[in-house]
Amino acid sequence: SRNGIDFAVADLSLAEFGRKEIRLAEHEMPGLMALRREYAGVNPLLGARVSGSLHMTVQTAVLIETLTALGAEVRWASCNIFSTQDHAAAAVAIGPTGTADEPAGVPVFAWKGESLPEYWWCTEQMLTWPDGQGPNMLLDDGGDATLLVHKGMQYEKAGVVPDATDDDSAEWQVFLELLKKSLAADSGKWTTMANGIRGVTEETTTGVMRLYQLAAAGDLLFPAINVNDAVTKSKFDNRYGIRHSLIDGINRGTDVLIGGKVAVVCGYGDVGKGAAESLRGQGARVIVTEIDPICALQAAMDGYEVQRLDDILDRADIIITTTGNKDVVTADHMSRMKHQAIVGNIGHFDNEIDIAGLARIPGIRRVNIKPQVDEWVLPSERSIIVLSEGRLLNLGNATGHPSFVMSNSFSNQVIAQIELFSKHSEYDREVYRLPKQLDEKVAQIHLVALGGNLTTLTKDQAEYIGIDPAGPYKPDHYRY
Ligand code: NAI
Repeated sequence: SRNGIDFAVADLSLAEFGRKEIRLAEHEMPGLMALRREYAGVNPLLGARVSGSLHMTVQTAVLIETLTALGAEVRWASCNIFSTQDHAAAAVAIGPTGTADEPAGVPVFAWKGESLPEYWWCTEQMLTWPDGQGPNMLLDDGGDATLLVHKGMQYEKAGVVPDATDDDSAEWQVFLELLKKSLAADSGKWTTMANGIRGVTEETTTGVMRLYQLAAAGDLLFPAINVNDAVTKSKFDNRYGIRHSLIDGINRGTDVLIGGKVAVVCGYGDVGKGAAESLRGQGARVIVTEIDPICALQAAMDGYEVQRLDDILDRADIIITTTGNKDVVTADHMSRMKHQAIVGNIGHFDNEIDIAGLARIPGIRRVNIKPQVDEWVLPSERSIIVLSEGRLLNLGNATGHPSFVMSNSFSNQVIAQIELFSKHSEYDREVYRLPKQLDEKVAQIHLVALGGNLTTLTKDQAEYIGIDPAGPYKPDHYRY
């Protein structure tokens, strides 16, 4: 804690570099800057205490400072152990006007390369406001903050944290340990916190899946807005963002020539579509695996071979998972890959690739090449190269999506925060999406920034196709 601001970042001396990159990013984030202008002097988030768990990058810094510009108080942590950009974290802690001696920014708890216990410590710090207050808004990416509040309250009610559940992962054990300690220290903390939260806005496919599961079970403790399924989020960030940042991660991690290689993309949803295009753009021969015949057919029509992973391991040079599912690449798969095959995941959690199983192969050796790049040498002396220990490689090995595409996603986040904070009593404990007209507004701002000019409907045309000239331009069932 310094100057009344508590924070935990790697190196405050990186703040100047961070501030310079934030300044450049602001120009590339016209949606967020337009929201700052639109709400200047209005402060729609005055009184909001936003606890945010989302990759602490330069782009996220512009999001955080947009929330504070709109009146919010904010605390922040990263939603992944490898995704923080330390210069961005330092700049956010110091703030635009502060100095290293007198920080005047936002309490941020994040550094690149956290251990799992550190990760959950940061998440708890981000949720724990001074004076025993809690947040009244959550902004989540992947659902870990939401999970902590929900499980905290559940175990508090039960009076005990179980020693084990059906999830036996190392991550889950660390999570249970943290809750045990926190329950021993303060028995009412999570219940009080949950009761004070007006709602959560969730960034990604995997977090949204968790929210719908909670709502279906009747366990969701507060209203939620599914930001991911705004069209200007998932059809842009998940796709065009990945198209940029997937090869960025592979290049920075390995610098291997992608052209001519056989690359496998597991999953052909929004992220998979961007991933396949990214690799094909470099001249890779791309093979797609899918479980859904519709997405599989899309891949085939887009010109990709569709195969099962088992059948093509002897050909694959690069294998990327994008499914949001678990156990997609198994230890058995990895033991049968080509020498120096590159394996990476770009889905939200690391359970897509069974790294724990890989480590258990008798006689296997791990050779660290550099941070977030490991060579695993099998007893046969063949090896595979694993990026970011199976965690999302675009943020672990590179810097994630670029600013312009994140401006779309984060504009939706800000709009969702304002909506739930100011109108929470109109929402039930369900998962909602933003109205299409707001989606169209976000698209319009970014189109103009790219120099695009929209054609205006005539009144006659509008009547003919049965829509309002001011939008929305598509029915809700339209899929884009
Ligand atoms: P999606 O639901 O559109 O696509 C996932 C696809 O994987 C689906 O088509 C599904 O049929 C397929 N799939 C499921 N199990 C499979 C299996 N065993 N084998 C092959 N295919 C399988 O989801 P979306 O939006 O593409 O997101 C995927 C993941 O990426 C999520 O975890 C999401 O949170 C994450 N994400 C990561 C980003 C990043 O920057 N790294 C950005 C955006 C999303």
